[in-house]
Amino acid sequence: MRAGQPSQTARRTAAYRAIHQTLEGGTIFHDPFASRILDARMLATLDEMAADPSLKPMRLFVAARSRFSEDALGASVARGIRQVVVLGAGLDTFSLRNPFAGQGVRVFEVDFPATQQWKREQLSQAALALPGWLTFAPVDFERQSIAEGLAQSGFRVDQPAFFQWLGVVPYLTRQAISGTLDFIAGIPRSEFVFDYAEPFENYPPDRRAHIMGVAERAAARGEPWLSHFDPAELAKLLHDKGFALVEDLGVAELSDRYYGALKAGIPIGPGAHVVRAQR
Ligand SMILES: C[S@@+](CC[C@H](N)C(=O)[O-])C[C@H]1O[C@@H](n2cnc3c(N)ncnc32)[C@H](O)[C@@H]1O
Repeated sequence: MRAGQPSQTARRTAAYRAIHQTLEGGTIFHDPFASRILDARMLATLDEMAADPSLKPMRLFVAARSRFSEDALGASVARGIRQVVVLGAGLDTFSLRNPFAGQGVRVFEVDFPATQQWKREQLSQAALALPGWLTFAPVDFERQSIAEGLAQSGFRVDQPAFFQWLGVVPYLTRQAISGTLDFIAGIPRSEFVFDYAEPFENYPPDRRAHIMGVAERAAARGEPWLSHFDPAELAKLLHDKGFALVEDLGVAELSDRYYGALKAGIPIGPGAHVVRAQR
C-alpha cells in the first residue's frame, strides 16, 4: 500500500461487483449498493470493463468469494455469533445491508486508514448513512495489531466472532498474515473466510502469463502481491494456528456451486481459493 493513499485494487473489486449486477443480474452475489458506492471516475469505466472478456474469470471469482463468505456468515449467525469483522473491507457493502441487524449483529470494518477514510467520503457523497451497527477501526496490518485497532471499538474479545478477509491476504507479508491469524485464533469459537492465491509456478503455462500480468498491474498501482500459498501449505498453517479447515474451494468447486450457466469458458485448475475455517 502507498502511504496515505487509498487502495486502488479495492476500487477495482467493487467495480467487478457492480458489473456483476448489471451484466449478470447479480446471480452469484446480489448487492444493491455495489454501484452506488463507486465514484464517478470508476463508474465511467464500467462499460469498458464489462466488455472485456478477459476480466470475466476474476469478476465471477470476486462475486463468488463474497457469496461464499456471506453464506458462511449467515450460518455463523444461526449458531449464535453476533460480531462480524470485515478485515480489509474496501468498498464491501455488507455493513450497509446487514440482514441480521435485528438479531443484534454488529459489524466492525478494519482497513488501511487511507482506504477507510476514502470509503467514508464515498458513503457521504452517495448519501448513504452510516448504520448504527457499524464501527470503523483503521489499522495497517503491517504496522499495528488488530487488537490495538479494535480496542476502543466495543468489540468483545471474549465473545465469538465471524471474520471476513477477502482480497487481502495476497497483499500482505507472511508476518502480517500470521499476526492476524493469531488474533483470530484468540477469539473463542471464531470462524473466518479468506481467499488466497497459489504460486505462479502452479499455474499451467498458458494461464501463467495472464495471472502474472494481473499481479504486475496491481504492483504498478502500489499493491504488489506479497504472499502465495500452496493448498497443502495453507492447510498446515491453519492447523498449526489451531484452526479446523472446514472448506478450501478452488475455482472448479466454486463454479460448480455458484456460477451456473456463467461457468462456460471459465478456466479451471490451480489459482485462487476461498477458505472457511473455525477455531
Ligand atoms: C483488493 S482490496 C479488497 C477489498 C474488499 N475486501 C473487497 O473484496 O472488495 C484489498 C484491501 O486490503 C486492504 N489492505 C491492503 N494492505 C493492507 C494493510 N497493510 N493494512 C490494512 N489493510 C490493507 C486495502 O485497504 C483494501 O481494502
